[in-house]
Amino acid sequence: MHQAAYDALKLPYRYVAVHVGRGSVGKALDRLAALGYRGVNVTVPHKEEALAWAAQADELSRRIGAANTLRLATKEATNTDAGGFLDTIQGLAGREATMLGAGGTARALAAVLPGAGYQVRVWNRTRERAMALADEFGLSVLEEPTVDADLVVNTTSAGLHGDRLPLDWSEARNGTVAYDLVYGETPFLTEAAARGLRTIDGQSLLVAQGARSFEWWLGLTPSREAMAEAIR
Ligand SMILES: NC(=O)c1ccc[n+]([C@@H]2O[C@H](COP(=O)([O-])OP(=O)(O)OC[C@H]3O[C@@H](n4cnc5c(N)ncnc54)[C@H](OP(=O)(O)O)[C@@H]3O)[C@@H](O)[C@H]2O)c1
Repeated sequence: MHQAAYDALKLPYRYVAVHVGRGSVGKALDRLAALGYRGVNVTVPHKEEALAWAAQADELSRRIGAANTLRLATKEATNTDAGGFLDTIQGLAGREATMLGAGGTARALAAVLPGAGYQVRVWNRTRERAMALADEFGLSVLEEPTVDADLVVNTTSAGLHGDRLPLDWSEARNGTVAYDLVYGETPFLTEAAARGLRTIDGQSLLVAQGARSFEWWLGLTPSREAMAEAIR
């Protein structure tokens, strides 16, 4: 996806994947810096370690407690998941949101949704985590999950394993938008589509957060179309 964006702008950069074990992120980042790499995207489960490595983390990544985008030479860190998510919901009607899940990605969304005018109600399988998240970011907690909202965003990893969530889709509004952060088909999205709802899958966020990383590193606007095409 990033390579497609570089190629579209005829930039002489390479984007490569590097596999790193837990606990070795800082060492790997120092090594990549020494080898001349300029920027790094970090994914689950390394985003907290990446933040700890940074010498200059911006306010957003500190608030979220995780960084996904780094500048190696200056040891700067930011988090583009949060702003990228907002990019993907621009123009949606209504400001009542249900957030399913209370893990790392839910934290990124919780950090920005209220500021974007959303009233957020959170449900999580493990209720204590939902309560802690709600306390920290000023959300309310749902005893039971509901799709009675303008936006229902599934931040759980249930769909990765084909697991369904205990949702009653008859509670949905006609304009409810169902958004799953997992890429591609999931039981959540299949059920929402069967109810006739608009659905968004995780590829949108993948492109949006990647485009924001690109802009942060290079100060250039990538072709989001080229990036989306590359992951199709
Ligand atoms: N599209 C993108 O660009 C993008 C970006 C970031 C993340 N993601 C995706 O977002 C998902 C969450 O990532 P994360 O970093 O937040 O993970 P995480 O910190 O491990 O949190 C996982 C969450 O899923 C819940 N969960 C897992 N299995 C479940 C099930 N069978 N039923 C109900 N709840 C379940 C967990 O609940 P408990 O607290 O009860 O365990 C927890 O709330 C992943 O699938 C990841 O691939 C996508």
